[in-house]
Amino acid sequence: MDIIEAIVNRSSIRGFKSDPIPRNVLEELLQTCLWAPSTWNMQPWEFAVLGGEVMEEVKARLEKKTRMGADIDPDIPEPELFNPYLQRQIDLMTSIDTHQFPPGTSMVDKKRAEYLLKGSRFYDAPNAIIIYTEKALCPSAIFDAGIITQTIALAALAYGLGTCIMARVLFWPDILKKLLRIPESKLIVIGIAIGYPDPQALVNSVSRAREPLDTFARWHGI
Ligand SMILES: Cc1cc2nc3c(=O)[nH]c(=O)nc-3n(C[C@H](O)[C@H](O)[C@H](O)COP(=O)(O)O)c2cc1C
Repeated sequence: MDIIEAIVNRSSIRGFKSDPIPRNVLEELLQTCLWAPSTWNMQPWEFAVLGGEVMEEVKARLEKKTRMGADIDPDIPEPELFNPYLQRQIDLMTSIDTHQFPPGTSMVDKKRAEYLLKGSRFYDAPNAIIIYTEKALCPSAIFDAGIITQTIALAALAYGLGTCIMARVLFWPDILKKLLRIPESKLIVIGIAIGYPDPQALVNSVSRAREPLDTFARWHGI
């Protein structure tokens, strides 16, 4: 797959097969991604790579918190959205909702609630990568963590893997820090649900939207 094709075709995967990713595949994938650039080549990232029983334990604890409606306290606070960003978020949620639950869908409230819970469980991915960094190096380290996150999402395609970059799974960092023995000096930046995409999952075929280039680009001297 060429680079342009990978950039355009990568999409967030929210339905996974249950097959776990072999450890050697995840090792090779992460090894490749270490070539991502970082500020002063600090390479300020660390990865908690989850699978098996630990993954199940994390999923169960996050789902429990979600069911309780517990107050959230992520290491990176959720921003208060305003337009046009708020509208883009609404459009995303509407397009996923209407794609999965078209008008007339039976028991739609129950199905929506199930989908929400599934989100708290990394969309039932068999594996996940939690990326964390030094609190003392932020905000530049957050930038670097973002770069390696997208590098992982792109490289995953070469292994037939799908990813969903997820802030949703970081609402209660204490759960992750305790279970994964992440020290308090670290900041949990992002989670990545990773696994083999489920071709039957309707949510994986939701149409993706982008604003036209003119919305973002200002040309100077060219
Ligand atoms: C930092 C970050 C956090 C995200 N958090 C979530 C999340 O919690 N749940 C989710 O379903 N998708 C999450 N996404 C995926 C975005 O919704 C997705 O990238 C966006 O809608 C564009 O769709 P695409 O990835 O299919 O192109 C996140 C993406 C990023 C970059």
